[in-house]
Amino acid sequence: MTLVRTRVAALMVFSGLLFVPAAAGETTGSSAIWSIPDIGALPDDDHGRQVRFGRKLIIATYAYIGPFVVDPTKRYAGNDLACANCHLKAGTKKFGLPIFGLYGDFPRYSARLGEEISIEDRINSCMTRSMNGRSLPNDAPEMQALVAYVKFLSSGVSPGEQLPGYGSGKMPDLDRAADPAHGKQVYARVCLACHNSDGSGIALRPEAMVLGYVVPPVWGNDSFNNGAGMARIITLANFIHFNMPPGAGYLNPVLSPAEAWDVAAYVESQARPQKSGLDRDYCSDLLDKPVDAPYGPYADRFTEEQHKYGPFGPIRAEIARLRAAKDKAPSGAK
Ligand code: HEC
Ligand code: HEC
Repeated sequence: MTLVRTRVAALMVFSGLLFVPAAAGETTGSSAIWSIPDIGALPDDDHGRQVRFGRKLIIATYAYIGPFVVDPTKRYAGNDLACANCHLKAGTKKFGLPIFGLYGDFPRYSARLGEEISIEDRINSCMTRSMNGRSLPNDAPEMQALVAYVKFLSSGVSPGEQLPGYGSGKMPDLDRAADPAHGKQVYARVCLACHNSDGSGIALRPEAMVLGYVVPPVWGNDSFNNGAGMARIITLANFIHFNMPPGAGYLNPVLSPAEAWDVAAYVESQARPQKSGLDRDYCSDLLDKPVDAPYGPYADRFTEEQHKYGPFGPIRAEIARLRAAKDKAPSGAK
């Protein structure tokens, strides 16, 4: 914990940006079950070193498997992001897309792929979408270290146990479409100083060949691709509401829900890498496709535009109707 926070604080000093310290409440939370196991207490043996390497991979992904690492066979990620740019505090922040306590959930069914997936498959979803790169082989030392870290973060959590704080939060839907034009104003006021007018963020020290970002890009060539979880507005708007600007937490959000929805719409309206083959996602049952998937095909007749920005109420109602009709149909019928 301290390590991450010190590093971020140091980066912010380096870039001359003002940084609001994280609220005390956000990591302590409501219950003892959100107690992060202490990585410092691990012995310096093979397992301890592997878990520590896993954590480094999360915090500084670009330095080990990024597109500019010296060994070309290790260039798995397609962008210079770090897992921890999204999985905040090295994957331990409530509603900051934690990867805490979920080891026992795998293998689990993936509606996107229509089959059971392993933890390695789930990590590779982020490799090919959020990191816009290619899959790590299951036996690569980097994959094994990532899995060891995820497993370590689940110490003491029994399989199937649901901890509060997963994902990026759950604001109520808006009853209108999210508005990129209003979002642009919010972006200019709250985000631009860090994430830049062209969404490209602030690179660490490219002139000294120091890889990675002080502030990661939110759109453009080096951002997550259109098949990523963050490319869905519900995920992004919640992430922003409960985590941005840094210092915000689920107990002390900075933006109003409407501001978060609209600024998310602005970010989603910008160009980013396009992943091929997305039409095959969820094809085993399109009714399971998230309402905010920004690419078709869909089970319903709503436009891609409405799936991208909402309003989602009418889409949810239509999906519920289609599902009820399907459940009533005699088995085997379509
Ligand atoms: C651009 C943001 C972003 C980056 C970078 C990113 N992820 Fe993710 N990750 C997400 C989102 C969003 C989800 C949840 C998707 C969803 O709603 O299903 C997720 C989900 C996951 C999950 C499953 C969590 C759960 O609750 O089931 C794991 C494990 C994971 N990511 C690991 C990684 C690893 C390892 C890396 C780096 C190699 C990485 N991610 C990089 C955004 C990101
Ligand atoms: C003080 C600088 C700062 C401000 C202001 C700020 N961010 Fe961020 N943002 C960051 C940093 C730093 C990260 C990486 C997370 C970390 O290191 O803790 C990040 C991560 C993100 C991410 C996930 C990673 C990625 O690259 O996609 C998104 C999305 C995001 N910010 C959107 C926003 C939006 C929208 C606003 C305005 C409402 C905003 N941020 C305001 C510094 C900032």
